[in-house]
Formats: sequence, C-alpha cells, structure tokens
Amino acid sequence: MKIFQENMVSFIVLTLFFLIGTSSSSLVSDFHALVTLKQGFEFADPVLSSWNSSSPSSVCSWVGIQCLEGRVVSVDLTDMNLYGSVSPRILSLERLIHLSLAGNNFTGTIEIANLISLHSLNISNNQFSGGLDWSYSSIANLELFDAYNNNFTAFLPLGILSLSKLKYLDLGGNYFYGEIPESYGNLLSLEYLSLAGNDLHGKIPAELGNLTNLKEIYLGYFNVFEGGIPVQFGKLVNLVHMDLSSCELDGRIPHELGNLKSLETLFLHINLLSGLIPKQLGNLTGLVNLDLSDNALTGEIPFEFINLKQLKLLNLFMNRLHGSIPEFIADLLDLETLGLWMNNFTGEIPQKLGQNGKLQMLDLSSNKLTGTIPRNLCASHQLKILILLKNFLFGPIPDGLGTCSSLTRVRLGENYLNGTIPNGFIYLASAKSS
Ligand SMILES: *[C@@H]1O[C@H](CO)[C@@H](O)[C@H](O)[C@H]1NC(C)=O
Ligand SMILES: *[C@@H]1O[C@H](CO)[C@@H](O)[C@H](O)[C@H]1NC(C)=O
Ligand SMILES: *[C@@H]1O[C@H](CO)[C@@H](O)[C@H](O)[C@H]1NC(C)=O
Ligand SMILES: *[C@@H]1O[C@H](CO)[C@@H](O)[C@H](O)[C@H]1NC(C)=O
Ligand SMILES: *[C@@H]1O[C@H](CO)[C@@H](O)[C@H](O)[C@H]1NC(C)=O
Ligand SMILES: *[C@@H]1O[C@H](CO)[C@@H](O)[C@H](O)[C@H]1NC(C)=O
Ligand SMILES: *[C@@H]1O[C@H](CO)[C@@H](O)[C@H](O)[C@H]1NC(C)=O
Ligand SMILES: *[C@@H]1O[C@H](CO)[C@@H](O)[C@H](O)[C@H]1NC(C)=O
Repeated sequence: MKIFQENMVSFIVLTLFFLIGTSSSSLVSDFHALVTLKQGFEFADPVLSSWNSSSPSSVCSWVGIQCLEGRVVSVDLTDMNLYGSVSPRILSLERLIHLSLAGNNFTGTIEIANLISLHSLNISNNQFSGGLDWSYSSIANLELFDAYNNNFTAFLPLGILSLSKLKYLDLGGNYFYGEIPESYGNLLSLEYLSLAGNDLHGKIPAELGNLTNLKEIYLGYFNVFEGGIPVQFGKLVNLVHMDLSSCELDGRIPHELGNLKSLETLFLHINLLSGLIPKQLGNLTGLVNLDLSDNALTGEIPFEFINLKQLKLLNLFMNRLHGSIPEFIADLLDLETLGLWMNNFTGEIPQKLGQNGKLQMLDLSSNKLTGTIPRNLCASHQLKILILLKNFLFGPIPDGLGTCSSLTRVRLGENYLNGTIPNGFIYLASAKSS
C-alpha cells in the first residue's frame, strides 16, 4: 500500500513536471519561432523594439502578440512598415488563431500550413509572389482569407475547396490567370468573394449562383470574360453588393437580377451589355447605387424605377438610351449623382430636379434635351458639377446658379441659352458658355 502511494505521488509529480515542462517549452518554441521571424524582417522604424528580450516568458507582452493559456494565438503585424521575407518557422506557431501580415512590403513566397486552429489569415497589401497552391486541408478551420493586392501569379488554387468554413475570400488585385473553376460554386459558406483585378478569362461559371450565402461579390476590372452575366446570379438573394464592372461582359442584363431584394449596390458599368434595362430591376427597392454606364443598352429608363426610392447614384451615361428623363427622378429624395450623358434622351429636364436638396453632380450632356434649365438645381448648396453641354436647351441661366458657390465645374455650351450670365458666375473660370 505504502509503495503504491509513493508510486502514485511520484507519478503525479512527474506528470505535473511533464505538463509544466512541455507547456513552457512550447512557449519557448513560440519564442524561437518569433525570433527567427524577426531575423527575416527588415524595417526602418523601431516598431518591433519590444521583440528584444531574451526571456521567452515576455513573448506574450511583445507588440502584436497575444497569448492564451500560455501559447501565442494571435500575431498581428498589420501596417508596421516591415519588408523582407516571412520565415517558414511561422508554421511552428501551432496554436495560432489569427495571423495578419497585411499592409507591409513582404516579398518572396509564402505557404501557410499545419495551423489547425487558424481562423483568420490576412496577407493583403504586400508583394508576395508565386502561387497559393497550399495544403489547405491542414488549415481547414480557416474562415477568413484575405490575399488582396499581392504579386501572386498562378491559376486560382483548387485546394481552397477544402476550406468548408470559409466565409471571406479575397484574391483580388493579383495576377491570377485562367478560368474561375466551376468548383468554386461549392464554397457554400462564402459570404464575401472577390476575384476582381486579375488576369482571369473564360465564362463566369453559372455554379457561382449556388453561393446563396454571398453578401458581396466582386469579379470585374482587368479580368476579361467571355459571355455574360449568368442568369443563375438571380439565386444570390442575400447579395448586398454586386460589382461586375469593366470585364467585357456581353449579352443582356438578366431580368433575374430583379430577385436580389437585398441589393444596395449594382455596378455593371464599362462592359458590352446590350438590350433593354430589365424593368424587374425596379423591384430592387433598397438600391442605393446603380451604375450601368458605358455599355450598349437601348430603350428607355423603365417606369418601374419609380420604386427605387433609396437611390443616391444613378449612372446610365454612354449607352443608346432614348425617351424622356422621367419626372419621378426629381422625386428621389436622396439622389446625389445623376449621369445620363451621351445617350439620346429627348424632352425637358424635370423642372423639380434638385429640389430634394441633395444634388451634387449632374451631367446630361450630349443628348437631345430641350426646354429650360431647372431653377433649383443648387438647392442643396452642394452642387459641384453641372454639365448640360450639347443639347437644345434655351432660355436664361437661372439666377440661383450664380450664387451656387459649391460649383467647381460648369459646362453649358452648345445650347441655345440666352439672357445674361448670372453675377456669381464670374468667379468660376469655366462657368462661361463651354
Ligand atoms: C525591451 O522593450 C521594452 C518595451 O519596449 C523596453 O521597455 C526595454 O527597455 C527594452 N529592453 C532592451 C534591453 O532594449
Ligand atoms: C486585412 O488587412 C487590411 C490592412 O492592410 C485591412 O484593410 C483589411 O480590412 C483586412 N481584411 C479583412 C478581411 O479584415
Ligand atoms: C513598398 O516598396 C515599394 C518599392 O519596392 C515602395 O514604392 C512602396 O512605397 C513600399 N510600400 C510601403 C507601404 O512601404
Ligand atoms: C512580381 O511578379 C513578377 C512576375 O510575375 C516579377 O517579375 C516581379 O519581380 C515580382 N515582384 C515582386 C516584388 O516580387
Ligand atoms: C450548382 O449550379 C449548377 C449550375 O447552375 C447546377 O447544375 C448544380 O446542380 C448546382 N449544384 C448544387 C449542389 O446545387
Ligand atoms: C418584379 O417586377 C416585375 C415587373 O416589374 C413584376 O411583374 C413582378 O411582380 C415583380 N416581382 C416581385 C417578386 O416583386
Ligand atoms: C441617337 O439616335 C440617332 C438617330 O436615331 C442615332 O444615329 C445615334 O447613333 C443615336 N446615338 C446614341 C448615342 O444612341
Ligand atoms: C430668350 O429667348 C426666348 C425665346 O426662346 C425669348 O422669349 C427671350 O426674349 C430671350 N431673352 C433674351 C434676354 O434674349
């Protein structure tokens, strides 16, 4: 019995010793990893001067470091003006949950693996190069991955499909090439997807329409796609922001986009879209920003747009639209920006335009508008840009515009305006008739 007790005691003591021993040696290994990491960094500022001690136990008070239960769980080096390379020793920080190296100038390749607790990884705004062909199944708990604005040059990584919890994926602003894999439609947890600003081509896969948890999608800029907007995007009913600008999309705007009841921003500008503006877009009653400019759209502004009461920005310029500018445009209480230039609009400018007291920018130039200039365009006292150039407007320039001190750019030339130039205009260099 006594022997048993003695054995028991020494077993407990040994166990305790072992536990303390491993936990401190693990913090020691975190310490060594960070010291090695710092050796790879270069910096001009003394931001990492607290990473100086030779005592491993001080690690948890180093700048950018957080610990939990005696282990490093968070490394946040965001915007610290660092450059140089990131040592693979970073992978021995085995308890990491958050890692941000964002907003520095790191170069070289990087591979993150074997960090099973890692939830968020932000390496955006650096100059990392190579690809992202990592062993993603060894970081399977990742929910946020931001690699925006680096120098990655590769096909889009397929391994990323192992990240079944991934909610936020930003691979924008790199040099990814090839097509968007259809299998990206299986990243069902995604709420944010950006592949914008790469060298992608091919069709936008219809399968992305299966990502029904998406709130934001950005695919445009520098990418050059074939074909158009998949009608399946009408299934993305939780979308708040959709930006597919400037990526050579052609065909029609699918009327199914009228299903996206949560949409606040719809940016489809600078593409080759043709056909009518679908009247179903008038169902998007929460829309704040609508930009369909620089396409080849035809027809009129749909009457159903009378329901878009939240609009702040409406840009339809550089299309082939005709008909009149609907009166209800003047009743949009929050409208700040109206750009309808280079179309074939006829009829008069709604006389109540500007009465909402919010208008900041109005460009109706190069249309076939007649009638007079509305008198309350500057009721907001915030009107900065007023361009009515190249129409068939006649009558006087309203007095109110002479006292519109917010104006920075005015072009009213190539019309049939007469009368005197209001007094205030003499202070505006560009205010005269062109
Ligand atoms: C180490 O950093 C701490 C915190 O910045 C500072 O108080 C201390 O003086 C530094 N020690 C040495 C030896 O530089
Ligand atoms: C990543 O870090 C950058 C700072 O460079 C920050 O602007 C961005 O919001 C971060 N990404 C996420 C998803 O929080
Ligand atoms: C990164 O480096 C480039 C030149 O290599 C420099 O122009 C740029 O200002 C640097 N950016 C930062 C945030 O240090
Ligand atoms: C960026 O990538 C290009 C090739 O894709 C390479 O020539 C250039 O040196 C890279 N820049 C950096 C800072 O890694
Ligand atoms: C995903 O979308 C494609 C094309 O839209 C469809 O054929 C497929 O059945 C969908 N897959 C799932 C799992 O919903
Ligand atoms: C959407 O708009 C169309 C045409 O404007 C209309 O017929 C339809 O009822 C609307 N659908 C919903 C769900 O509001
Ligand atoms: C305006 O209409 C005329 C005559 O129908 C046509 O020749 C011209 O291309 C149209 N311009 C635009 C911008 O739609
Ligand atoms: C301006 O033109 C209108 C007809 O378009 C005319 O009635 C008015 O008298 C003209 N005003 C001046 C000051 O020339």
